[in-house]
Amino acid sequence: MQNAGMAALGLDWRYLAFEVRPEDLRAAIEGAKAMRFMGLNLTVPHKVAAMTLVDALDESAVKWGAINTIRFEARDPQGRWQPFQYFSGPLPDEVRSQGFNTDADAIVHALRDDLDMKLAGARILLLGAGGAGRVAALRLAAELPSEMFLINRTADKAEGVAEEIRERFPQVKTSTSFPEAKVDLLVNATSVGLKRGDGLPLDEELFPLQRAAAVYDMIYRPAETTLLKVAKAAGCRTANGTGMLLYQGARALELWTGRSAPEEIMRDALVKNVYGD
Ligand code: ATR
Repeated sequence: MQNAGMAALGLDWRYLAFEVRPEDLRAAIEGAKAMRFMGLNLTVPHKVAAMTLVDALDESAVKWGAINTIRFEARDPQGRWQPFQYFSGPLPDEVRSQGFNTDADAIVHALRDDLDMKLAGARILLLGAGGAGRVAALRLAAELPSEMFLINRTADKAEGVAEEIRERFPQVKTSTSFPEAKVDLLVNATSVGLKRGDGLPLDEELFPLQRAAAVYDMIYRPAETTLLKVAKAAGCRTANGTGMLLYQGARALELWTGRSAPEEIMRDALVKNVYGD
């Protein structure tokens, strides 16, 4: 997806994957900065740890408490920090890393595009309170749904996220038990469904899927998890996590290049890469 996007923008850049151990994350970020990489994306388990390892935090990282995108920057002659792409000659000596979060907005973007969701005033059931679940919960709460139901295997974690929502978005009614009545949206932010043979991330005795108008699974591989299959059969509108993956990546590419991302080219490459031809 990123390499296709970069090629379409006429850039001779390469996007590469590196596996980094948590204890090496600081060295990896500093090393990439020393080598004058344009930027980085981070995934599990680095998104929260990176918060204390970058030189500056964009508002998006502060707001959602996690970083999935780093941009390396240097000062322009006016003293403003700019992405490396801004400089045509050699880079100035003073450089820094800035952390961003492009995941959070991608959730809202995908729900609007793929499920035609109107989140303001909606009733939302969210499964999962890990790294992805916490960011999803807070970002969805910022859209001011009328009520959020947060469910997690480890109940304390859902309670912690609910408490955070009550502090930051007191208008949103928040509970940590399954709703009795219908919801407009159910989101799966657990990892249940990733592995072959995984079942549902919830107990249908506690919440039958017919009660959800729409179901979003943040998982994109497999394309149809058990949750999506059962939800579809129950008559729910459904979408998988491909849109989220695309939009967080498109915004990252825009941060590095300062140009608009060729989203459709990136989508085609993503779909081809994840699902084959
Ligand atoms: P991520 O960054 O992808 O969110 P994570 O922080 O490890 O990864 O979170 C994984 C989520 O899936 C958590 O909500 C986890 O529940 P716990 O907080 O109880 O660990 C959930 N999860 C993982 N395996 C699960 C399972 N077998 N049943 C139910 N929930 C599960």
